[in-house]
Amino acid sequence: MTDGPLRVAILISGGGSNMVALVRSMTGDHPARPVLVLSNDPAAKGLQRAAEMGIPTAAVDHRPFRGDRAGFEAALLRPLLAARPDVICLAGFMRILTPAFIQQFQGRMLNIHPSLLPKYPGLHTHQRALDAGDTEAGCTVHEVIADLDAGPVLGQARVPVLPADTADSLADRVLVQEHRLYPEVLRRFVAGDRTPLIL
Ligand code: GRF
Repeated sequence: MTDGPLRVAILISGGGSNMVALVRSMTGDHPARPVLVLSNDPAAKGLQRAAEMGIPTAAVDHRPFRGDRAGFEAALLRPLLAARPDVICLAGFMRILTPAFIQQFQGRMLNIHPSLLPKYPGLHTHQRALDAGDTEAGCTVHEVIADLDAGPVLGQARVPVLPADTADSLADRVLVQEHRLYPEVLRRFVAGDRTPLIL
């Protein structure tokens, strides 16, 4: 058990809007603090946003490792382990991690997924909800296990699907809820509370 606040590493691939929401929430009496923002894309906008907020950043470009998933993950582990994280938050992180990687952090790695799991694991979740004629959609924060998007649910937030919705308009509405849900679930998680939060 590290003394002082719990250390949270956040993995991103793009804009990092969920990372920003998480970083902004870890202040005051929050028992955790962000210690690293790590991306598989050195050009990820979220790295710049993290640096502007004074958070240490690192990037390991996955492209040179094409096909060598283990090699990429070994490179990713170096800055990640150097940050001595207690909790890892995947936030818009778009690489699939191997069971070997995940088992090193099982029970302390979270992810946010833009659907009401167990519906629509994987990609294109909003278009799939529209194609199915769903009247509601949303997002899920879950513990990460080897099976993709299948770990214990820690929180969900729902939004209505409107008749004129496109995948983009629905994604925008869900993203607002992601930014509410993820920080709230993380706050409970680091306090040892794993009862699912339904917003
Ligand atoms: C969001 O839709 C999130 O659900 C998914 O990645 C998208 C972008 O997230 N995981 P962010 O803005 O990079 O946090």
